[in-house]
Amino acid sequence: MVLVYFITFILVLAGLVLTRNGKTCSKEEKKKGRKIPLPPGSMGWPYIGETHQFYSQDPNVFFATKQKRYGEIFKTHILGCPSVMLTSPEAARFVLATQAHLFRPTYPKGKERLIGPSALFFHQGEYHARLRKLVQSSLSPEVIRNMVGDVEAVLLTMMENWDGGKVMNTLEEMKKFSFEVGILAVFGNLESHFREELKKNYCMVDRGYNCFPSNFPGTRYWKALLARRNLDSIICEIVGERKEKRFKEKNLLRCLLDYRDEKGKFLADAQIADNIIGVLFAAQDTTASIMTWIIKYLHDNPKLLEAVKTEHNLISRSFDEGFRPLSWKQKRAMPATHGLIMETLRMATIISFTFRETVADVEYKGYLIPKGWKVLPLFRNIHHDPEFFPDPDIFDPSRFEVTPKPHTFMPFGIGVHSCPGNELAKLEIMTLVHHLVRKFRWEIMGKHDGTEYSPFPVPQDGLPARFWKLPS
Ligand code: HEM
Repeated sequence: MVLVYFITFILVLAGLVLTRNGKTCSKEEKKKGRKIPLPPGSMGWPYIGETHQFYSQDPNVFFATKQKRYGEIFKTHILGCPSVMLTSPEAARFVLATQAHLFRPTYPKGKERLIGPSALFFHQGEYHARLRKLVQSSLSPEVIRNMVGDVEAVLLTMMENWDGGKVMNTLEEMKKFSFEVGILAVFGNLESHFREELKKNYCMVDRGYNCFPSNFPGTRYWKALLARRNLDSIICEIVGERKEKRFKEKNLLRCLLDYRDEKGKFLADAQIADNIIGVLFAAQDTTASIMTWIIKYLHDNPKLLEAVKTEHNLISRSFDEGFRPLSWKQKRAMPATHGLIMETLRMATIISFTFRETVADVEYKGYLIPKGWKVLPLFRNIHHDPEFFPDPDIFDPSRFEVTPKPHTFMPFGIGVHSCPGNELAKLEIMTLVHHLVRKFRWEIMGKHDGTEYSPFPVPQDGLPARFWKLPS
């Protein structure tokens, strides 16, 4: 009898907790015969699903075709998983912000192994919140303001090679820049032998990241795993040194080393290493891709280039005195630069979508998303929706003279996992633009209208270009 009361109590409680529209669906509802339909869409072939279509064409064409046919929510089956894709701002907010607890981050196991399972972006709940606080504090606007001089020094050293019409692979140059800045953010000043070793092994991991995860000796993935192990040893050595020396500077490693939980327990070495690799990983290719697009768009739009140049000649002094990247004041003072950066972030939308997995059956707009299904909010479709951005395929920085409608522009994501590195990325972009437009002219080589996916969308062949220094 007691058991019957207990079960009834639990069922009533569950009924109170589980609500309808946009929340988890109770078993009771199903028992009562209220059958919630799955979203429209097609699942393709058994096991294979629609992975072939997804990969055989530009993924954005795949998404856009489906959206046209089925609307803002549709099901498919890719990469071995039943999935639901969502293309509206409300849906993205629902999954990533307002109901984020129902959707956990999910990455293929092979990728998780390479980055390290303790990295914050694989987690949710308390562990994620704790780690995120540490990462955020190491990338706060105050810390970033103090990095202006160092970021500029990295760029200017690299730019010394940009002269005489030498052909450079723009993307590779930008990757070097963003990697060095990532190292600065994580370690502060680091001895060059450590930097070189980290760079060598990190490149191997990066090369294997998008390969089939095979442990077979000789494969790229296998080499990446070995390099990942080397990274652990290098970081362990740096940690050992830093523990002894007690540097005062504020950087991610210092924040991770100083952390103690409420019981006085500190982070394990593996947690420190995984989060360092995770941040380096999140920081490098993303920022490098955006900066490559910026160089292309400035080249293709001479009037915009002139306007941006004029703004940067004017702010040159305040830049030298150390500024806050893209503050509201500067936004008003530099409308052309602001438009350039925002429109590049929109056009390129280098994080085209993100992955989550439902932790329970979820109902959204009258459709069921079953527990364990992948859910993909499609940022690119939102940024290219003509309702929010008219003529979305035309590069038009002036559209940002008016603030976009709320929640329609999210290049750095939204909600609990949104990008903690966005201020640093803006500083890098701004530093690049500032020195590039005032000191260089450049020509892009060959055909440069294509896009490649690496996996981020980048200009074809990494945008080979010739650079010349302007007379000062
Ligand atoms: C233009 C450059 C960048 C873009 C467009 C970008 C975009 C994003 C987006 C969309 C997310 C959310 C992903 C999701 O919800 O699944 C994210 C997360 C993240 N980003 Fe960035 N990012 C950039 C640069 C950086 C930089 C420079 C850093 C670090 C220095 C960084 C560190 C991170 C981290 C650690 C996360 C995971 C946060 C979490 O899970 O709580 N990103 N980024």
